[in-house]
Amino acid sequence: MQEDAKNLKVEFPKDFLWGASTSGHQVEGGNRDQWTVWELAHAEELAKMAEKRYSHIPSWPDIKKQAQDPRNYISGKGVEHYQRYKEDFALVKKLNLNAFRFGIEWARLEPEEGKWDETVIEHYRQYISELRKMDIEPVLNAWHWSEPIWFAEKGGFKKRKNIKYFIRFIDKICQEYGHLLRYIITLNEPNNFATFGYILGAWPPQERNVLDASWVYWHLVIAHRQAYKLIKRQHPEMQVGVASQLANIQAKRPHNIFDEIATKIMRYLWNWWFPRRIRKQQDFIGFNYYFTDYYTGVFKRKNPKIPLNDLGWYMEPEGLYPLLLRVWARYRKPIIITENGVADSKDEYRRWWIEETIVAMQRAMSEGVKLKGYFHWSLLDNFEWADGWWPKFGLVAVDREHGMKRTIRDSAKWYAERIKKLS
Ligand code: BGC
Repeated sequence: MQEDAKNLKVEFPKDFLWGASTSGHQVEGGNRDQWTVWELAHAEELAKMAEKRYSHIPSWPDIKKQAQDPRNYISGKGVEHYQRYKEDFALVKKLNLNAFRFGIEWARLEPEEGKWDETVIEHYRQYISELRKMDIEPVLNAWHWSEPIWFAEKGGFKKRKNIKYFIRFIDKICQEYGHLLRYIITLNEPNNFATFGYILGAWPPQERNVLDASWVYWHLVIAHRQAYKLIKRQHPEMQVGVASQLANIQAKRPHNIFDEIATKIMRYLWNWWFPRRIRKQQDFIGFNYYFTDYYTGVFKRKNPKIPLNDLGWYMEPEGLYPLLLRVWARYRKPIIITENGVADSKDEYRRWWIEETIVAMQRAMSEGVKLKGYFHWSLLDNFEWADGWWPKFGLVAVDREHGMKRTIRDSAKWYAERIKKLS
Protein backbone atom coordinates (compact mmCIF):
# COMPACT_ATOMS: atom_id res chain seq x y z
CA MET A 1 0.00 0.00 0.00
CA GLN A 2 1.28 3.45 -0.82
CA GLU A 3 1.49 4.67 2.77
CA ASP A 4 1.71 8.36 2.04
CA ALA A 5 -1.51 8.33 0.08
CA LYS A 6 -3.45 5.95 2.25
CA ASN A 7 -4.81 8.63 4.52
CA LEU A 8 -5.59 11.19 1.88
CA LYS A 9 -9.10 12.48 2.21
CA VAL A 10 -9.92 12.95 -1.41
CA GLU A 11 -13.60 12.80 -2.12
CA PHE A 12 -14.86 11.12 -5.23
CA PRO A 13 -17.45 13.40 -6.89
CA LYS A 14 -21.05 12.55 -6.02
CA ASP A 15 -21.79 11.74 -9.66
CA PHE A 16 -18.68 9.56 -10.08
CA LEU A 17 -19.36 6.58 -12.32
CA TRP A 18 -18.56 3.44 -10.36
CA GLY A 19 -18.95 0.79 -12.99
CA ALA A 20 -18.06 -2.54 -14.46
CA SER A 21 -17.28 -3.34 -18.10
CA THR A 22 -18.21 -6.15 -20.45
CA SER A 23 -18.26 -6.65 -24.21
CA GLY A 24 -20.94 -8.43 -26.21
CA HIS A 25 -18.86 -11.15 -27.84
CA GLN A 26 -17.17 -12.01 -24.55
CA VAL A 27 -20.31 -12.69 -22.53
CA GLU A 28 -23.52 -12.78 -24.58
CA GLY A 29 -23.28 -16.22 -26.17
CA GLY A 30 -24.71 -17.27 -29.52
CA ASN A 31 -22.77 -14.70 -31.52
CA ARG A 32 -21.98 -15.14 -35.18
CA ASP A 33 -19.28 -12.75 -36.25
CA GLN A 34 -15.77 -12.88 -37.73
CA TRP A 35 -14.37 -13.98 -34.33
CA THR A 36 -16.74 -16.95 -34.11
CA VAL A 37 -15.65 -18.10 -37.56
CA TRP A 38 -12.02 -17.80 -36.53
CA GLU A 39 -12.55 -19.63 -33.21
CA LEU A 40 -14.14 -22.62 -34.91
CA ALA A 41 -11.31 -22.80 -37.42
CA HIS A 42 -8.50 -22.47 -34.84
CA ALA A 43 -9.66 -24.08 -31.59
CA GLU A 44 -7.76 -27.34 -32.21
CA GLU A 45 -4.59 -25.55 -33.12
CA LEU A 46 -4.78 -23.20 -30.11
CA ALA A 47 -5.25 -26.16 -27.79
CA LYS A 48 -2.19 -27.85 -29.30
CA MET A 49 -0.14 -24.69 -28.88
CA ALA A 50 -1.18 -24.23 -25.24
CA GLU A 51 1.94 -25.75 -23.72
CA LYS A 52 4.19 -23.56 -25.82
CA ARG A 53 2.18 -20.46 -25.08
CA TYR A 54 1.55 -20.89 -21.37
CA SER A 55 3.86 -23.44 -19.74
CA HIS A 56 6.22 -20.68 -18.56
CA ILE A 57 3.54 -18.95 -16.48
CA PRO A 58 3.08 -19.85 -12.80
CA SER A 59 -0.58 -20.80 -13.22
CA TRP A 60 0.24 -23.50 -15.82
CA PRO A 61 -0.37 -26.54 -13.57
CA ASP A 62 -3.83 -25.19 -12.71
CA ILE A 63 -4.85 -24.19 -16.22
CA LYS A 64 -3.19 -26.99 -18.21
CA LYS A 65 -6.27 -29.16 -18.59
CA GLN A 66 -8.54 -26.41 -19.72
CA ALA A 67 -5.96 -24.70 -21.91
CA GLN A 68 -5.32 -27.95 -23.78
CA ASP A 69 -9.00 -28.53 -24.45
CA PRO A 70 -10.20 -27.13 -27.80
CA ARG A 71 -13.58 -26.26 -26.24
CA ASN A 72 -11.80 -23.61 -24.21
CA TYR A 73 -11.30 -21.57 -27.38
CA ILE A 74 -14.94 -21.43 -28.48
CA SER A 75 -17.10 -18.56 -27.22
CA GLY A 76 -20.23 -20.69 -27.79
CA LYS A 77 -22.91 -20.01 -25.24
CA GLY A 78 -20.85 -17.28 -23.63
CA VAL A 79 -22.14 -16.84 -20.11
CA GLU A 80 -25.64 -16.41 -21.52
CA HIS A 81 -25.65 -12.73 -20.72
CA TYR A 82 -27.92 -12.16 -23.73
CA GLN A 83 -30.71 -14.00 -21.91
CA ARG A 84 -29.72 -13.32 -18.32
CA TYR A 85 -29.03 -9.62 -18.48
CA LYS A 86 -31.64 -8.73 -15.85
CA GLU A 87 -30.03 -11.12 -13.38
CA ASP A 88 -26.65 -9.56 -14.20
CA PHE A 89 -27.92 -6.01 -13.73
CA ALA A 90 -29.19 -7.07 -10.31
CA LEU A 91 -25.59 -8.07 -9.55
CA VAL A 92 -24.41 -4.64 -10.66
CA LYS A 93 -26.79 -3.14 -8.12
CA LYS A 94 -25.75 -5.57 -5.44
CA LEU A 95 -22.15 -4.48 -5.91
CA ASN A 96 -23.23 -0.86 -5.32
CA LEU A 97 -22.18 0.13 -8.82
CA ASN A 98 -24.06 2.88 -10.63
CA ALA A 99 -22.80 2.45 -14.20
CA PHE A 100 -22.32 -0.33 -16.73
CA ARG A 101 -20.29 -0.48 -19.92
CA PHE A 102 -21.61 -3.00 -22.39
CA GLY A 103 -21.13 -3.96 -26.02
CA ILE A 104 -23.75 -3.90 -28.67
CA GLU A 105 -23.13 -6.49 -31.36
CA TRP A 106 -23.10 -5.07 -34.86
CA ALA A 107 -23.17 -8.62 -36.28
CA ARG A 108 -26.45 -9.34 -34.51
CA LEU A 109 -28.04 -6.06 -35.52
CA GLU A 110 -26.96 -6.28 -39.16
CA PRO A 111 -26.29 -9.96 -39.86
CA GLU A 112 -26.59 -9.33 -43.59
CA GLU A 113 -25.42 -6.20 -45.29
CA GLY A 114 -28.11 -3.53 -45.04
CA LYS A 115 -30.66 -5.82 -43.33
CA TRP A 116 -31.43 -4.91 -39.76
CA ASP A 117 -32.82 -7.52 -37.41
CA GLU A 118 -35.85 -5.93 -35.73
CA THR A 119 -35.92 -8.48 -32.90
CA VAL A 120 -32.35 -7.69 -31.99
CA ILE A 121 -32.98 -3.95 -32.22
CA GLU A 122 -35.81 -4.42 -29.76
CA HIS A 123 -33.68 -6.62 -27.51
CA TYR A 124 -31.05 -3.92 -27.02
CA ARG A 125 -33.77 -1.29 -26.55
CA GLN A 126 -35.14 -3.29 -23.66
CA TYR A 127 -31.64 -3.97 -22.38
CA ILE A 128 -30.75 -0.27 -22.23
CA SER A 129 -34.19 0.69 -20.86
CA GLU A 130 -33.75 -1.87 -18.10
CA LEU A 131 -30.46 -0.25 -17.08
CA ARG A 132 -32.19 3.12 -17.02
CA LYS A 133 -35.05 1.73 -14.98
CA MET A 134 -32.59 0.33 -12.46
CA ASP A 135 -30.78 3.64 -12.25
CA ILE A 136 -27.59 2.25 -13.73
CA GLU A 137 -25.91 4.62 -16.21
CA PRO A 138 -25.61 2.79 -19.55
CA VAL A 139 -22.30 3.34 -21.33
CA LEU A 140 -22.66 1.88 -24.78
CA ASN A 141 -19.60 0.56 -26.58
CA ALA A 142 -20.19 0.28 -30.32
CA TRP A 143 -17.19 -1.72 -31.57
CA HIS A 144 -15.15 -4.08 -29.43
CA TRP A 145 -13.27 -5.94 -32.21
CA SER A 146 -16.15 -8.13 -33.36
CA GLU A 147 -17.69 -7.39 -36.76
CA PRO A 148 -20.32 -8.87 -39.07
CA ILE A 149 -18.88 -11.60 -41.25
CA TRP A 150 -19.86 -9.76 -44.45
CA PHE A 151 -17.95 -6.68 -43.26
CA ALA A 152 -14.81 -8.70 -42.49
CA GLU A 153 -15.10 -10.42 -45.89
CA LYS A 154 -15.05 -7.03 -47.58
CA GLY A 155 -11.71 -6.37 -45.87
CA GLY A 156 -13.01 -4.72 -42.68
CA PHE A 157 -11.21 -1.57 -41.63
CA LYS A 158 -8.32 -2.28 -43.97
CA LYS A 159 -10.35 -0.65 -46.73
CA ARG A 160 -11.23 3.01 -46.46
CA LYS A 161 -14.40 2.52 -48.47
CA ASN A 162 -15.77 0.21 -45.75
CA ILE A 163 -15.88 2.97 -43.15
CA LYS A 164 -19.30 3.98 -44.45
CA TYR A 165 -20.79 0.71 -43.17
CA PHE A 166 -19.53 1.41 -39.67
CA ILE A 167 -20.96 4.93 -39.86
CA ARG A 168 -24.32 3.53 -40.93
CA PHE A 169 -24.21 1.27 -37.88
CA ILE A 170 -23.46 4.27 -35.63
CA ASP A 171 -26.33 6.14 -37.25
CA LYS A 172 -28.64 3.25 -36.44
CA ILE A 173 -27.50 3.31 -32.79
CA CYS A 174 -28.22 7.04 -32.63
CA GLN A 175 -31.68 6.68 -34.11
CA GLU A 176 -32.74 3.70 -32.04
CA TYR A 177 -31.07 4.34 -28.71
CA GLY A 178 -29.68 7.89 -28.73
CA HIS A 179 -32.48 9.25 -26.55
CA LEU A 180 -31.72 6.61 -23.88
CA LEU A 181 -28.00 7.34 -23.63
CA ARG A 182 -25.59 9.92 -22.28
CA TYR A 183 -22.34 8.11 -23.09
CA ILE A 184 -21.12 6.39 -26.23
CA ILE A 185 -17.73 4.79 -26.72
CA THR A 186 -17.18 4.28 -30.43
CA LEU A 187 -14.10 2.01 -30.44
CA ASN A 188 -12.28 -0.26 -28.03
CA GLU A 189 -8.47 -0.39 -28.16
CA PRO A 190 -7.64 0.27 -31.81
CA ASN A 191 -3.92 -0.24 -30.99
CA ASN A 192 -4.39 -3.78 -29.71
CA PHE A 193 -6.68 -4.72 -32.58
CA ALA A 194 -4.28 -3.47 -35.25
CA THR A 195 -1.23 -5.01 -33.55
CA PHE A 196 -2.58 -8.47 -32.71
CA GLY A 197 -4.69 -8.88 -35.84
CA TYR A 198 -2.39 -7.36 -38.46
CA ILE A 199 1.21 -7.36 -37.16
CA LEU A 200 1.54 -10.30 -34.77
CA GLY A 201 -0.93 -12.52 -36.62
CA ALA A 202 -2.39 -13.73 -33.32
CA TRP A 203 -6.02 -12.67 -33.82
CA PRO A 204 -8.29 -12.61 -36.83
CA PRO A 205 -7.57 -11.94 -39.64
CA GLN A 206 -4.10 -13.20 -38.63
CA GLU A 207 -2.05 -11.00 -40.90
CA ARG A 208 1.54 -9.97 -40.50
CA ASN A 209 1.80 -6.84 -42.48
CA VAL A 210 2.82 -3.53 -40.95
CA LEU A 211 1.49 -1.54 -43.88
CA ASP A 212 -1.96 -3.10 -43.61
CA ALA A 213 -1.88 -2.58 -39.84
CA SER A 214 -1.16 1.10 -40.45
CA TRP A 215 -4.11 1.37 -42.81
CA VAL A 216 -6.41 -0.27 -40.28
CA TYR A 217 -5.15 2.06 -37.57
CA TRP A 218 -5.59 5.14 -39.72
CA HIS A 219 -9.04 4.10 -40.92
CA LEU A 220 -10.13 3.65 -37.32
CA VAL A 221 -9.08 7.27 -36.72
CA ILE A 222 -11.27 8.38 -39.61
CA ALA A 223 -14.10 6.11 -38.51
CA HIS A 224 -14.07 7.66 -35.04
CA ARG A 225 -13.89 11.23 -36.34
CA GLN A 226 -16.87 10.67 -38.63
CA ALA A 227 -18.81 8.83 -35.95
CA TYR A 228 -18.18 11.64 -33.50
CA LYS A 229 -19.50 14.27 -35.91
CA LEU A 230 -22.56 12.24 -36.69
CA ILE A 231 -23.42 11.50 -33.06
CA LYS A 232 -22.93 15.12 -31.98
CA ARG A 233 -25.08 16.37 -34.84
CA GLN A 234 -27.97 14.23 -33.68
CA HIS A 235 -27.32 14.38 -29.92
CA PRO A 236 -25.19 17.41 -29.02
CA GLU A 237 -25.27 16.54 -25.31
CA MET A 238 -23.93 13.01 -25.78
CA GLN A 239 -20.52 12.36 -24.21
CA VAL A 240 -18.46 10.56 -26.83
CA GLY A 241 -15.06 8.94 -26.51
CA VAL A 242 -12.83 5.95 -27.23
CA ALA A 243 -11.52 3.25 -24.90
CA SER A 244 -7.79 3.35 -25.66
CA GLN A 245 -5.30 0.85 -24.31
CA LEU A 246 -2.73 2.92 -22.44
CA ALA A 247 0.24 1.48 -20.62
CA ASN A 248 2.40 3.07 -17.97
CA ILE A 249 5.61 2.79 -19.98
CA GLN A 250 8.81 3.47 -18.05
CA ALA A 251 12.55 3.29 -18.65
CA LYS A 252 14.16 0.17 -17.20
CA ARG A 253 17.19 2.19 -16.14
CA PRO A 254 16.11 5.74 -15.36
CA HIS A 255 18.62 8.31 -16.67
CA ASN A 256 19.98 5.83 -19.17
CA ILE A 257 19.65 7.81 -22.36
CA PHE A 258 18.88 4.79 -24.57
CA ASP A 259 16.20 3.46 -22.25
CA GLU A 260 14.71 6.95 -22.00
CA ILE A 261 14.58 7.36 -25.77
CA ALA A 262 13.03 3.92 -26.28
CA THR A 263 10.47 4.78 -23.60
CA LYS A 264 9.52 8.04 -25.28
CA ILE A 265 9.12 6.31 -28.65
CA MET A 266 7.07 3.49 -27.18
CA ARG A 267 4.84 5.94 -25.31
CA TYR A 268 4.24 7.88 -28.48
CA LEU A 269 3.57 4.88 -30.70
CA TRP A 270 1.50 2.80 -28.29
CA ASN A 271 -0.22 5.42 -26.13
CA TRP A 272 -0.42 8.76 -27.81
CA TRP A 273 -0.56 8.29 -31.56
CA PHE A 274 -4.25 7.46 -31.72
CA PRO A 275 -5.69 9.75 -29.01
CA ARG A 276 -3.72 12.66 -30.43
CA ARG A 277 -5.33 12.24 -33.86
CA ILE A 278 -8.80 12.43 -32.34
CA ARG A 279 -8.12 14.99 -29.63
CA LYS A 280 -10.78 17.36 -30.97
CA GLN A 281 -13.32 14.57 -31.26
CA GLN A 282 -13.40 13.38 -27.67
CA ASP A 283 -15.55 14.72 -24.85
CA PHE A 284 -13.68 12.58 -22.37
CA ILE A 285 -10.52 10.53 -22.50
CA GLY A 286 -11.38 6.89 -21.99
CA PHE A 287 -8.66 4.36 -21.38
CA ASN A 288 -8.09 0.80 -20.25
CA TYR A 289 -5.24 0.24 -17.83
CA TYR A 290 -3.65 -3.18 -17.27
CA PHE A 291 0.08 -2.73 -17.85
CA THR A 292 3.16 -1.08 -16.45
CA ASP A 293 6.06 -1.94 -18.73
CA TYR A 294 9.78 -1.22 -18.34
CA TYR A 295 11.75 -0.81 -21.56
CA THR A 296 15.43 -1.02 -22.36
CA GLY A 297 17.11 0.91 -25.14
CA VAL A 298 16.67 -1.94 -27.61
CA PHE A 299 12.90 -1.88 -27.09
CA LYS A 300 13.00 -4.97 -24.93
CA ARG A 301 10.37 -5.23 -22.23
CA LYS A 302 12.07 -6.16 -18.95
CA ASN A 303 9.54 -6.22 -16.16
CA PRO A 304 10.06 -7.36 -12.58
CA LYS A 305 9.39 -11.07 -12.18
CA ILE A 306 6.69 -10.73 -9.56
CA PRO A 307 3.84 -10.27 -8.91
CA LEU A 308 2.24 -11.92 -11.94
CA ASN A 309 -1.44 -12.54 -12.62
CA ASP A 310 -2.79 -15.83 -14.00
CA LEU A 311 -1.94 -14.76 -17.54
CA GLY A 312 1.65 -14.09 -16.52
CA TRP A 313 1.17 -10.31 -16.79
CA TYR A 314 3.29 -8.24 -14.41
CA MET A 315 1.02 -6.36 -12.00
CA GLU A 316 1.65 -2.79 -10.91
CA PRO A 317 -1.79 -1.33 -10.19
CA GLU A 318 -0.32 1.89 -8.76
CA GLY A 319 1.15 2.60 -12.21
CA LEU A 320 -2.24 4.08 -12.93
CA TYR A 321 -1.22 7.19 -11.00
CA PRO A 322 1.62 8.45 -13.23
CA LEU A 323 -0.43 7.47 -16.26
CA LEU A 324 -3.39 9.55 -15.10
CA LEU A 325 -1.09 12.53 -14.59
CA ARG A 326 0.33 12.18 -18.09
CA VAL A 327 -3.08 11.81 -19.71
CA TRP A 328 -4.34 14.87 -17.86
CA ALA A 329 -1.26 16.94 -18.72
CA ARG A 330 -1.74 16.14 -22.40
CA TYR A 331 -5.46 16.51 -22.89
CA ARG A 332 -6.98 18.42 -19.95
CA LYS A 333 -10.25 16.65 -20.49
CA PRO A 334 -12.30 14.58 -18.05
CA ILE A 335 -11.00 11.04 -17.82
CA ILE A 336 -12.91 7.77 -17.58
CA ILE A 337 -11.05 4.56 -16.82
CA THR A 338 -13.03 2.32 -19.10
CA GLU A 339 -11.36 -0.99 -18.09
CA ASN A 340 -9.02 -2.16 -15.37
CA GLY A 341 -8.70 -5.53 -13.73
CA VAL A 342 -6.83 -8.73 -13.21
CA ALA A 343 -6.95 -12.39 -14.27
CA ASP A 344 -7.06 -14.07 -10.89
CA SER A 345 -9.02 -17.30 -10.58
CA LYS A 346 -8.11 -17.78 -6.91
CA ASP A 347 -9.08 -14.21 -6.05
CA GLU A 348 -5.71 -13.68 -4.37
CA TYR A 349 -4.79 -10.35 -5.86
CA ARG A 350 -8.03 -8.64 -6.91
CA ARG A 351 -8.74 -6.88 -3.64
CA TRP A 352 -5.18 -5.59 -3.40
CA TRP A 353 -5.36 -4.50 -7.06
CA ILE A 354 -8.56 -2.55 -6.52
CA GLU A 355 -7.32 -1.04 -3.26
CA GLU A 356 -4.15 0.23 -4.95
CA THR A 357 -6.20 1.48 -7.86
CA ILE A 358 -8.46 3.53 -5.64
CA VAL A 359 -5.44 5.09 -3.95
CA ALA A 360 -3.88 5.85 -7.34
CA MET A 361 -7.11 7.57 -8.41
CA GLN A 362 -7.26 9.58 -5.19
CA ARG A 363 -3.65 10.69 -5.56
CA ALA A 364 -4.27 11.84 -9.10
CA MET A 365 -7.45 13.67 -8.12
CA SER A 366 -5.58 15.38 -5.28
CA GLU A 367 -3.41 16.94 -7.97
CA GLY A 368 -6.30 18.27 -9.96
CA VAL A 369 -6.92 15.42 -12.40
CA LYS A 370 -10.59 15.39 -13.37
CA LEU A 371 -11.69 11.80 -13.07
CA LYS A 372 -15.25 11.00 -14.00
CA GLY A 373 -15.47 7.25 -13.65
CA TYR A 374 -13.90 3.86 -13.08
CA PHE A 375 -15.10 0.67 -14.77
CA HIS A 376 -13.70 -2.59 -13.50
CA TRP A 377 -13.01 -5.35 -16.02
CA SER A 378 -15.06 -7.34 -15.77
CA LEU A 379 -18.44 -7.80 -14.15
CA LEU A 380 -18.44 -11.47 -15.14
CA ASP A 381 -15.91 -14.13 -16.04
CA ASN A 382 -15.67 -13.78 -19.78
CA PHE A 383 -14.29 -15.20 -23.01
CA GLU A 384 -10.72 -13.95 -23.27
CA TRP A 385 -10.36 -13.88 -27.06
CA ALA A 386 -7.44 -16.09 -28.19
CA ASP A 387 -6.92 -17.28 -24.58
CA GLY A 388 -10.48 -18.53 -24.29
CA TRP A 389 -12.27 -19.24 -21.06
CA TRP A 390 -9.59 -20.15 -18.53
CA PRO A 391 -8.53 -16.62 -17.47
CA LYS A 392 -10.92 -15.28 -14.85
CA PHE A 393 -11.43 -11.54 -14.75
CA GLY A 394 -14.89 -11.41 -13.15
CA LEU A 395 -15.96 -9.63 -10.00
CA VAL A 396 -18.54 -12.36 -10.31
CA ALA A 397 -17.43 -15.93 -11.04
CA VAL A 398 -19.47 -17.86 -13.58
CA ASP A 399 -19.58 -21.65 -13.50
CA ARG A 400 -20.18 -22.62 -17.13
CA GLU A 401 -20.29 -26.31 -16.22
CA HIS A 402 -23.10 -25.90 -13.74
CA GLY A 403 -25.94 -23.89 -15.18
CA MET A 404 -23.94 -20.67 -15.56
CA LYS A 405 -24.17 -20.13 -11.83
CA ARG A 406 -23.02 -16.67 -10.78
CA THR A 407 -21.10 -16.22 -7.51
CA ILE A 408 -19.83 -12.90 -6.23
CA ARG A 409 -16.14 -13.17 -5.39
CA ASP A 410 -14.92 -12.08 -1.94
CA SER A 411 -12.87 -9.26 -3.40
CA ALA A 412 -16.02 -7.92 -5.04
CA LYS A 413 -17.91 -8.03 -1.75
CA TRP A 414 -15.14 -5.98 -0.23
CA TYR A 415 -15.19 -3.61 -3.21
CA ALA A 416 -18.95 -3.10 -2.87
CA GLU A 417 -18.51 -2.03 0.75
CA ARG A 418 -15.61 0.24 -0.13
CA ILE A 419 -17.63 2.01 -2.80
CA LYS A 420 -20.47 2.57 -0.39
CA LYS A 421 -18.09 4.52 1.84
CA LEU A 422 -16.56 6.43 -1.04
CA SER A 423 -19.71 7.53 -2.82
C1 BGC B 1 -9.89 -5.86 -23.78
C2 BGC B 1 -10.86 -6.85 -23.18
C3 BGC B 1 -10.10 -7.99 -22.53
C4 BGC B 1 -9.19 -7.42 -21.46
C5 BGC B 1 -8.41 -8.45 -20.67
C6 BGC B 1 -8.71 -5.56 -22.89
O1 BGC B 1 -7.60 -5.27 -23.66
O2 BGC B 1 -10.57 -4.69 -24.14
O3 BGC B 1 -11.72 -7.30 -24.18
O4 BGC B 1 -10.94 -8.96 -22.01
O5 BGC B 1 -8.25 -6.58 -22.08
O6 BGC B 1 -7.55 -9.16 -21.48
